[in-house]
Amino acid sequence: MTDLSVQRTDMRMGSLLALGLLYIAFRLGSAAARLATNPYWAGCLAAPNNPAWRLPQMISDDMASRINAQINRELFSAYFYLGLSAQAESSNLKGTAAWFMAKHGEEMTHALKMYRYLLDQDAIVALDPVEAPPAKTAGITDMFERTLSHERAVTQAINDLVDHAAQEKDHATHIFLQWFVTEQIEEEATVNDILGRLRLFGDQGQGLLMIDNELAGAAKRVAAAAPATEV
Ligand code: FEO
Repeated sequence: MTDLSVQRTDMRMGSLLALGLLYIAFRLGSAAARLATNPYWAGCLAAPNNPAWRLPQMISDDMASRINAQINRELFSAYFYLGLSAQAESSNLKGTAAWFMAKHGEEMTHALKMYRYLLDQDAIVALDPVEAPPAKTAGITDMFERTLSHERAVTQAINDLVDHAAQEKDHATHIFLQWFVTEQIEEEATVNDILGRLRLFGDQGQGLLMIDNELAGAAKRVAAAAPATEV
């Protein structure tokens, strides 16, 4: 290769490099101009700590507030079962006490499942005071009748949440809630079954002893089946 052709190749390479640099500078300039004129990013740059510039959460405020209300209901459920467990133990119904204690743990996992969902959706977890559970019940049948009516109310609340998620076309929340729909079917069926046995065998003497023993076994199964929720 002659000196002249080497010189020409160098010049061509130099021009290509200059053009490349010019193109990059142009793209960077237009990106900066777009950033400066975008109200969201301009706001972020001007006041990075202003909460108004927080990226929008993935679910609506209304949906988040309804899930927060459900967290409160689940925490109340846990508290409700804790109260019933204490009352059963005071009446020497150890199996019944263990069953309600296992339900307490299960309800805590329900609350934490929703808590985790809100955080994963970049929504705010707002914890409200939890209502006190009934201080006194009229015996084991009353405990399970209250349990059934409580779970029916929870089922209704879950169904309302599902309806709302569908209305908002919030597919993520709609799918998330399906687990709770299934769980409520199982919970109501279990309590119905216990109530049926109480009515059949009676809530006194031998019948009560038998049911209390059955509940001790069921408590172990509830505790073992409780879904692990990593918070
Ligand atoms: Fe979590 Fe039984 O409602």
